[in-house]
Amino acid sequence: MDKYDAYEKYQEFDEQYPRQPGANRYAKPKPGKKKPKPAELQAQLSDFDDNIAAWVPSYAAALDPRHYERQWLIESIGPFYRDNVVTDVTRRVKGGKEANVYCCTAHPATGLELIAAKLYRPRILRTLKNDAVYKAGRQLRGEDGKLMKGRREKLALLQKTTFGKQLDTTWWIGNEFSTQQALFEAGAAVPRPIGHNGNTILMEYIGDENMAAPALIDSAPERGEAADLFDEILHNVRLMLRLHRIHGDLSPYNILHWNGSAVIIDFPQMVDARTNPHAYDLLRRDLARVCAYFARFGVRADAEEIARDMWLPYMGALP
Ligand SMILES: Nc1ncnc2c1ncn2[C@@H]1O[C@H](COP(=O)(O)OP(=O)(O)OP(=O)(O)O)[C@@H](O)[C@H]1O
Ligand SMILES: [Mg+2]
Repeated sequence: MDKYDAYEKYQEFDEQYPRQPGANRYAKPKPGKKKPKPAELQAQLSDFDDNIAAWVPSYAAALDPRHYERQWLIESIGPFYRDNVVTDVTRRVKGGKEANVYCCTAHPATGLELIAAKLYRPRILRTLKNDAVYKAGRQLRGEDGKLMKGRREKLALLQKTTFGKQLDTTWWIGNEFSTQQALFEAGAAVPRPIGHNGNTILMEYIGDENMAAPALIDSAPERGEAADLFDEILHNVRLMLRLHRIHGDLSPYNILHWNGSAVIIDFPQMVDARTNPHAYDLLRRDLARVCAYFARFGVRADAEEIARDMWLPYMGALP
């Protein structure tokens, strides 16, 4: 069993609950797998810190104890509690098909007040949309962001073996984290990344005690603000391209709007502009979505022209 299989049983937590006893198909041992005896189970759990097992963050405490989300949350964020990065989880900012985002109270040692925790659903990690498009031409990197040279790893990924799937999941999470780190260090308007573990990424929380920063789609720019915001976003797209990255899913849904500034989020599908054969098309699409949004607020811009002007000096020629 790879470590993400452990989360499979929480996949359906949006379904109605409580369930009938025995109705939880995830709780049944898989055919051919023997049920661990209590002593074995104890041994498996022994490295799971007692502190974590006993930790019930306030958001989880308000959930029905039978609710799958409760255990999923504790297991995913628990290691960060153990390591004194977060002290509490106060609410769910957003629950989606791909990931849930939670607001956490930061441990004072971090120097932050609030932290956002993004928890991916394992099934999503395994089948991330347009996997092939985004991965095309991309060199494989391990969880630590280092290039994977091993033939065994590459073969396992290609053949989608269990080992390969496990690599895949760590690959996506590690990739999102290291991308966000590189962007942040280069001065891009992205939340500061804090850590990652298993299915979870921790980052600076954009917003305040009362509310998380809304996405641009839900927060129209004020009169006179649109042009500056648009320029700020273009500046970031340019900066990303200088780092050889294209967001790949840029839209008013993945740009937060806070204190009059734009903060770009959601990076698992970023592509390498040098090696991905779809790079230019993804850049054009990112810009088209941004331009279409700002056109509603009176910003006149031609996405195709901007894409060309960014790409030509960068690559020397259009693809
Ligand atoms: N650092 C953050 N600070 C505050 N809110 C955040 C942060 N990151 C994400 N969010 C909130 O969570 C939402 C989803 O985040 P994100 O776009 O990264 O995930 P996603 O993979 O698109 O999830 P889904 O497809 O389920 O919406 C955002 O629209 C925003 O409301
Ligand atoms: Mg998103």
